[in-house]
Amino acid sequence: MKISVIGSGTMGNGIAHTFAQFGYQVNLIDVNEMALEKALTTIAKNLDRQVSKGTITDTDKAIILKHISTTTDLKTGVAEADLIVEAATEALELKLEIFKELDSYARPDAILASNTSSISITKIASVTNRGDKVIGMHFMNPVPVMKLVEVIRGYATSDAVTDIVMSLSKKLDKVPVEVNDYPGFVANRILMPMINEAIYALYENVAGVQEIDTVMKLGMTHPMGPLQLADFIGLDVCLAILKVLHDSFGNPKYAPCPLLVNMVTAGKKGVKTREGFYDYSAGIKGPVVAAKFL
Ligand code: CAA
Repeated sequence: MKISVIGSGTMGNGIAHTFAQFGYQVNLIDVNEMALEKALTTIAKNLDRQVSKGTITDTDKAIILKHISTTTDLKTGVAEADLIVEAATEALELKLEIFKELDSYARPDAILASNTSSISITKIASVTNRGDKVIGMHFMNPVPVMKLVEVIRGYATSDAVTDIVMSLSKKLDKVPVEVNDYPGFVANRILMPMINEAIYALYENVAGVQEIDTVMKLGMTHPMGPLQLADFIGLDVCLAILKVLHDSFGNPKYAPCPLLVNMVTAGKKGVKTREGFYDYSAGIKGPVVAAKFL
């Protein structure tokens, strides 16, 4: 089975890494050549972690990297694929444009999957002539580590395509969970209101950054507190998902906290800009609370 992955950012390179690790031939596609080079460097670095942990060998690493080819040409990049996983920027118009092109360039029997975290699969499928073969395949970050794949059935997604994607996810040593196509699906419908509430607690001075995160880490055994997790996901991504929930349901409980809106407007988007609720100028391990919140 040949896989094409569109978008070589954090999610795209993690998805390519994972498919390649389990023996699939992957074509990683991005409009930007430099982004592709950066993605290969990131994948090599993440494979090195696995080598140093002894979960793979140096020979495995070389074989995995050989399974990944890259291109900036969408048309040729998807021509032979059985499955295409789109992991481009989380913007509706961009995804619709990509899926229109995929529908004309991909083989008629190819499955078109999106790694979208909140955009409607039914809407994405509506710009193609193969709604039965369009599906959500929502991986979690960091993809090589996280076990879940949220498999989202659009209104027209067929049983056969859902079965293929469920069993393929198991072959990647993941646990797929089938959900229906409603705003935020399951993961972000539950996660984002929790993160938003944590930001409201900070905004209303219920407690500080470290205190809120410690309560959730030690009190609920979450690996990261909600504010650190928001930084890790990207505050712009959290805001975009909350806007989808708020616009789709029209329920004020999903209204993004004004503090989150201000931080994104000010360009403080978390780890990717080296500052969010925490300051990452000394690296992402052991983050310190950003000066603004001290
Ligand atoms: N590639 C490969 N391996 C990686 C990796 C990567 N990118 N990142 C971490 N690892 C591995 C490490 O090598 C390590 O392996 P071992 O268990 O074999 O030792 C393991 O993962 C743990 O990593 P670290 O020791 O470096 O750090 P940690 O113990 O602090 O764990 C973490 C890091 C896995 C990210 C952990 O903090 C965690 O689980 N955080 C929560 C992540 C989460 O909730 N993700 C979902 C976000 S929501 C989303 O993605 C969807 C959306 O739509 C918004």
